[in-house]
Amino acid sequence: MNDNETILDACLRNGINLEHACEKACACTTCHVIVKEGFDNLEDASDDEEDLLDKAWGLESNSRLSCQVYPVENMTVIEIPKYTINQVSELT
Ligand code: FES
Repeated sequence: MNDNETILDACLRNGINLEHACEKACACTTCHVIVKEGFDNLEDASDDEEDLLDKAWGLESNSRLSCQVYPVENMTVIEIPKYTINQVSELT
C-alpha cells in the first residue's frame, strides 16, 4: 500500500474493481467494505462517512467507505459486501 492511498485506490491499483459511483466524493455507498483485519488501526470515520454508512447494504460494526480511509498500517484485510446501493444509477 502506498502512502496517502485510500483502500479504494489500493484496490483499483491492484485490479480489484470496487464500485465508486460518486468518484470518491463521499456521496454514495458503493465503495462500502467490511474491514476484517486492521480496523483498529484506521482513523475514525468523519460524520459524513458515518451518515452514509447508515444507508449501506449489509452494514457491520467494522464497515467503512473505502474511498475515505487511509490505512496507517500496511496490513488491512477487507471483505466486499455482496450488494451495493448505487443511488446514482437508480436515479437515472
Ligand atoms: S465512492 Fe462514493 S463514497 Fe466512496
